[in-house]
Amino acid sequence: MLKLDTTIIILAAGKGSRMKSDYPKVLHILGDKTILEYVLNTAKSINPKKIILVCNNNTKKILSNMKNFSIEIVVQKEQKGTGDALITASKNFLDNENIIVLYGDMPLISSISIKKLQESKKKSDLSLLTSNIKNPSGYGRILRKNGYVIGIIEEKYANNQEKLIKEVYSGTFITQGKDLKRWLSKIHYNNHNQEIYATEIIKIAYLEGGNIIKTVKPLNYKEILGINNKLQLSILEKMIQQEKIENLLLSGVTLKDPYNFNLRGTLKHGENIEIDSGVILEGNIILGNNIKINAGCIIKNSFINHHSQIKEYTIIENVKIGKNCIIGPFCHLRNKTILKNNIHIGNYVEIKESIINEKTKIKHLSYIGNSKIGSQVNIGAGTITCNYDGFKKSKTTIGDNVFIGSNTELIAPINISKNTTIAAGTTVRKNVDKPCLVYNTKKQKYKENWSYINKNKKTNT
Ligand code: UD1
Ligand code: CA
Repeated sequence: MLKLDTTIIILAAGKGSRMKSDYPKVLHILGDKTILEYVLNTAKSINPKKIILVCNNNTKKILSNMKNFSIEIVVQKEQKGTGDALITASKNFLDNENIIVLYGDMPLISSISIKKLQESKKKSDLSLLTSNIKNPSGYGRILRKNGYVIGIIEEKYANNQEKLIKEVYSGTFITQGKDLKRWLSKIHYNNHNQEIYATEIIKIAYLEGGNIIKTVKPLNYKEILGINNKLQLSILEKMIQQEKIENLLLSGVTLKDPYNFNLRGTLKHGENIEIDSGVILEGNIILGNNIKINAGCIIKNSFINHHSQIKEYTIIENVKIGKNCIIGPFCHLRNKTILKNNIHIGNYVEIKESIINEKTKIKHLSYIGNSKIGSQVNIGAGTITCNYDGFKKSKTTIGDNVFIGSNTELIAPINISKNTTIAAGTTVRKNVDKPCLVYNTKKQKYKENWSYINKNKKTNT
């Protein structure tokens, strides 16, 4: 038999009204990506001839602003049902190809199940992905006669007997383009709500006679779970988290409070990793060996090398941290910051777009922005790099072995020579080209016989 090309159609144009949100349902975030991306990734892994995405205008607008989004999009102008969505797509596929339909709100569908459908198609005209689930409520039920599929009844039109059927329809099926087009041309509007249901094609195929309709079961019932509302979104989120947590525990990561930990992305790690309560890891995270992350930390897209510790309530985004560093508590390390080895960053320190070299300490209450700091530098409490003049950001460069006293302002752009000492409370406005002591003269004055209490007494009378 001639092997037919495969086209995958993903239906994602629905209003998503049960989400009670004006943001497209399929673009809501699940774990670390949109619901739709799960379906797209699975579709791509099948390597079809093409993927057609049926979406509405709003979704198209948002997707076209996303980078690297190159899928054939078909716009369903009015959301007149899943059948209408397929009719909209039907101009874009050929008679002599296999068509696989996926629903964009069913993120856990696996490529294995789709391949099983492809296999089943060799012996059928129409193969459906169905599953037996404990609580079938909300799903279309599979109607059978003498074991053969004869149609699908949607929950809202099912009688009490039909509602007891546990075999539900996933929305996923495979058939040939020519057959699908013929069946679609025979569907009628549903009189009750003026929608065209894709599920009608099953009854039509059966009534035509001669068509072989088969069903295929997924490996796991979770694959067919659809997301229609925020409750279902949170149930799937929990399932995804649960699986990630179990994998991490099995791979040797110590999670002190496993069900109060979130991995919204991927974590690559070495040995002896200890993560405490309330930690959120997002995007791509890489941890070396012997890493400790204390309670309440949020870390996004970052790399932390061996023997480093991140203390409580620290936020780290797009940062590289070297070996033997101690960071936090209550630090904010931001975009493009690189910390080399043996660095201490302490309480209430914010660092942005800066490189900090080995053995430097910034232990309290500082802001370091657009800076390059040498090794073995000590930055005193309350030191601020004044990098923004209201129009542009400017750079600060500090050489090796500089000692900066507390409450110092460095007005950028500025360079400080190595081995310089800056006295506490200095405002440094000009470059320091040679090692020296830098200080401002602020004369300390005295007013005799003055006290705060006396002053208050006077104003009260
Ligand atoms: C649908 C099925 C139901 C099945 C369930 C599985 C129909 C009529 N019913 O119900 O049998 O058990 O999925 O999850 O198909 N969409 C469009 N255009 C539209 C309407 C919907 O593209 O006009 C898209 C949606 O964006 C969604 C998918 O089709 O991705 C399914 O639509 P939805 O409204 O969620 O259908 P269900 O009520 O879940
Ligand atoms: Ca749905």
